[in-house]
Amino acid sequence: MKIQVPKGTQDILPEDIEKWYFIEDVIRKILNKYGYCEIRTPIFEHTELFVRGIGESTDIVNKEMFTFPDRKGRSLTLRPEGTAPVIRAYLENRMERISKVVKLFYFGPMFRCEKPQAGRFRQFHQFGIELIGSQSPVADVEIIAAALEIYETLGLKGLQVSINSVGCKKCRKDYIGKLKSFLENKKEQLCFECNNRIEKNPLRVLDCKNIKCRETLQEAPKIIDHLCDECKDHFEEVKECLSDLKIKYTIDERLVRGLDYYTKTAFEIISGELGAQNAIAGGGRYDNLVEELGGKETPGVGFAAGIERMIISMEKQKVSWPKKQYLDVFVVKIGEKNNIVAFQLLQEIRKAGISADLDYAGKSLKSQMRTANKYHVKYTVILGEEELGRNMVTLRNMETKEQKEIKINNLIDELGS
Ligand code: HAM
Repeated sequence: MKIQVPKGTQDILPEDIEKWYFIEDVIRKILNKYGYCEIRTPIFEHTELFVRGIGESTDIVNKEMFTFPDRKGRSLTLRPEGTAPVIRAYLENRMERISKVVKLFYFGPMFRCEKPQAGRFRQFHQFGIELIGSQSPVADVEIIAAALEIYETLGLKGLQVSINSVGCKKCRKDYIGKLKSFLENKKEQLCFECNNRIEKNPLRVLDCKNIKCRETLQEAPKIIDHLCDECKDHFEEVKECLSDLKIKYTIDERLVRGLDYYTKTAFEIISGELGAQNAIAGGGRYDNLVEELGGKETPGVGFAAGIERMIISMEKQKVSWPKKQYLDVFVVKIGEKNNIVAFQLLQEIRKAGISADLDYAGKSLKSQMRTANKYHVKYTVILGEEELGRNMVTLRNMETKEQKEIKINNLIDELGS
């Protein structure tokens, strides 16, 4: 029996990799322009990082993590997201010493054991940014603006920004009391899991995907009506700044996001092309996370975006991808001999900065020419035994079909001209 990829994972094949290069290139250029530096953290971390960072009663920690013991029995987890690892690295490397505000971005695979469906995978790729050390509402807007600039440069249209404020520790206390009493009265209409969450973490009930729970929650008290003055002012300033920058947004009073670390601003960017899994990016402020992971009180804000979901949306919108990069030259060898000579010549061509390859499968001349055509090369360099004896090769221009015999020593100049 053939072994297949695990459920919810996929290969990124050579014919698709150009899309990934293109997207990563746009992201890197734009984020460098915004002053963000790339960070790469390990793919697995101590499980405790996510339990403390994301929150024990979230779906991610409760049901979706790939967790396993190492050989000494310590619990490790494949990272389900990038924010907690970035904050761990920020603290471990004492980055606050370098600058009060630290701006980081990352790319990479994330892992969540969810039920796979269109746009939802068990291994998926995110890029994300984290702006650590600023309380300013303008920082929240920079995050949203950077995301939108990336999507716009990639040619994605019609995206919607939904924002909300989830308050802070202070104002949430009062709100959670009110939410709890509401939920206590609706126990029968809520699913088993929501019932369990009423005591442990009632805010997470607002996140439930169950349709009946969602209907019941329509009348639930809204956090936005219970913000303290500081959170209210912060939210007002975010909205004002978005409007001044002509960034369209809608307020989604039900938006709480599925991770516990959020405070104040929470947002999602929605793509109409994605069906049920329509969030192309999500993020917000997390002013307590650094402290919860053992650091000093330090505010932060960031977002992450699913790259597969970006590609799906771009394909549905028929966005044009950059042209595929092909080889410049194919070295064609006639006869059994001269393998090493052909390889030496190939390496010289490559050293001159010209992309080139040859056939390693022992194909006939005709079939080597076919391969050259498949690669859309500009030139083939044909090595015949007799010509090589005279230090000559044949250079064929594949567009004009012209060919001429030239001295080996002149080959690089001819190719470069
Ligand atoms: P998140 O909303 O869990 O946030 O994920 C961000 C994005 O990752 C989603 O909007 C979606 O595009 C993509 N994504 C999530 N799960 C899957 C999946 N199973 N399959 C495919 N794509 C998926 C976070 O991860 C936070 N760390 C974002 C953040 C950064 N907040 C502050 N800083």
